[in-house]
Amino acid sequence: MNQAVSTEAIYNKQANSWSRSEKILLSDFTARPRVIEELGDISGASILDMGCGEGYVSRMLLDRGANSIFGVDASSEMIAQARETASLNNLTNASYAVGNAVSYSSFPQETFDQAIAVFLFNYLTIEEMTKVMSRVRSLLKKGGSFVFTVPHPCLPFMREETPPFYFQHGDTSYLDGIDQTFEGKIWRRDGKPVSVRCVHKNFSHYFAALAQAGFNTLPIVRELSVTQEHLDLDPDFFTPLAGYPLHVLFKVQAND
Ligand SMILES: C[S@@+](CC[C@H](N)C(=O)[O-])C[C@H]1O[C@@H](n2cnc3c(N)ncnc32)[C@H](O)[C@@H]1O
Repeated sequence: MNQAVSTEAIYNKQANSWSRSEKILLSDFTARPRVIEELGDISGASILDMGCGEGYVSRMLLDRGANSIFGVDASSEMIAQARETASLNNLTNASYAVGNAVSYSSFPQETFDQAIAVFLFNYLTIEEMTKVMSRVRSLLKKGGSFVFTVPHPCLPFMREETPPFYFQHGDTSYLDGIDQTFEGKIWRRDGKPVSVRCVHKNFSHYFAALAQAGFNTLPIVRELSVTQEHLDLDPDFFTPLAGYPLHVLFKVQAND
């Protein structure tokens, strides 16, 4: 459970497995569509995508009418893929930067209409996550939403280490594993696993960090899982996860 391999190295190595133009990964079915849904009407919006990876979600946002997106990611390979795909698809309103979301400050504009962080905070400690939330808060226009997803904090302790999604919590418990890194894997529907990790936090830490960052309205919280639609689509893939809380989505608004 130490971080002998950096997150950046993990993503540089497996950027090709993440590169996609349609739903491939488990979470492309169970989480990312819910982020889009939760943002609501994004027509004309400028959107900040922290931990954007190879740009899959940001391209979906542009496809749904966003005016522009700016993504930051620590992995140079993921950003190279994002830029290449944007260029191939002539997406001139998508721009990307390599950077650590915790310290990045060269944003191309002073404010954004909306912001997302899709499975970024599971790579950060509580302190780092709070810094990113504070930055996002300072960049959001009044009324703008910040939507983020993380692995459900209970999942590592509820499920054994079997496909298509798991984290190894070792001998730590839900309460004492705080800020410890759990290595994990999430599967693609074609049977290929990709490596992921989760710096463990409890529910209380997300609420405290949001408050500390200056988000002073109650977040909307959704505990995401496999739905009947998923089970109907591919019972072999999704049934092992039926009934488990997989991810948590938070949506919070900047009210000034
Ligand atoms: C699970 S992937 C998700 C990528 C993208 N948001 C998506 O939904 O397809 C997590 C991403 O977070 C990035 N990441 C991890 N730590 C980071 C950090 N400190 N700063 C910026 N990006 C980071 C990784 O490089 C990786 O691309």
